[in-house]
Amino acid sequence: MKHLLVIALVLLAGCAPEDDGILRISGSAVGDEGEILRRQVTAFMEENPDLRVVVQRTPDDASQRHQLYVQWLAARTGRPDVLQLDVIWTPEFAAAGWILPLERFAPDTTGLFDAALAANRWEGSLYALPWFVDVGMLYWRTDLIDAPPVTLEELSRQSAAAAPEYGFVWQGARYEGLVTVFLEILTGHGGRIMAPDGSVEVDSPEGRTALVWLRDRIGPNGDTPRDVLAWREEEVRFAFQNGRALFMRNWPYALPLVDGEGSRVAGRVGVAPVPGTRPDRGAAALGGSQLAINAESANPEGSFRLISYLTHPERMLERARATGQLPPRRDLYDDPRLQAHLPAPAERMREIVEAAVPRPPTPAWTQLSEILQIHLHRALAGQTDPDAALASAAREMEAVLARMGLHERQRGDATPPPPSR
Ligand code: GLC
Repeated sequence: MKHLLVIALVLLAGCAPEDDGILRISGSAVGDEGEILRRQVTAFMEENPDLRVVVQRTPDDASQRHQLYVQWLAARTGRPDVLQLDVIWTPEFAAAGWILPLERFAPDTTGLFDAALAANRWEGSLYALPWFVDVGMLYWRTDLIDAPPVTLEELSRQSAAAAPEYGFVWQGARYEGLVTVFLEILTGHGGRIMAPDGSVEVDSPEGRTALVWLRDRIGPNGDTPRDVLAWREEEVRFAFQNGRALFMRNWPYALPLVDGEGSRVAGRVGVAPVPGTRPDRGAAALGGSQLAINAESANPEGSFRLISYLTHPERMLERARATGQLPPRRDLYDDPRLQAHLPAPAERMREIVEAAVPRPPTPAWTQLSEILQIHLHRALAGQTDPDAALASAAREMEAVLARMGLHERQRGDATPPPPSR
């Protein structure tokens, strides 16, 4: 009897979020991100003395961060209260009932980029507020070449001819970042991962040529070190910043770091769009972060106050100044205070963000991406040929969509999917 009571108490404690009066926010700390978040949270607490906020750090690797979130949210402890979500996670977490719809707080969505907003809607409701947008860019060394390449062919030629130690470094580890790199090269070849109707298209002639192009960069005659197969954003940045590479693919956060104090290449860095096979085909993957509220949070109102504070235009400008990360609001690109912190003229940056290619907004994305990561990585490592890799990836992705009932759903027949967890 006593045991049963103890078990019941433990179960109850597990279900009901215990309110200790502290708001917890989880965020990434890549580059200078941790520092700006701490500073803004401190300023928030000064303005809101009734709230105490604690920042919980998460892994730099987007896929590992996702895993940690799934553990936290599935445990339904209400912690952390505020979550920094990757642009591709909102549909999955909303469909699982893990985050709150925000309408009851009447969030201000004026001026936000359409794609950033669309990524945060699920079944007609808004579940997260855009915090910053990311676009993949090509960094180049202005002391080694006169102008950046406008086609992929030119990129490989310049890489082979003028490279210091390496030609081109990029995120090749088996994680979400690899999928964003592949998405850019695939778009640059005129291909896509999925069609708008939800069918998988990655196993296509364009998919094969794109994967072969990436694979051919690696190896004894290539311009990319084999090490990239284990590199994420930061390893790639260090290689470039230490003067070892002519080109780097990375997000905007890297600019103030590779062009700042402590970098061996400061003052010798240019930034350009990632090129495609034709000059008009360059493509950036759309990335970025949003803030959402844990559905079990003991303090949703306090959480929303924190989100409103952090997504205020002034805080976005401050973040851009500190980290180079781009505001998700179109109108801020007209603010002269932003220009000094952008890699290109503001109007051009706004166009690059608006043309950036999103990953498909489906609650199955994590599973689809994991399949792609495995097969792309095997092909890049030379363990399978690109044809077989893409055929297997497409087959497995189709099977996941069919299992989750998402084929029909994306095509417009509104049968709800079975719960995924
Ligand atoms: C950046 C992007 C995110 C992407 C991740 C991949 O954090 O903002 O959207 O998924 O990189 O590594």
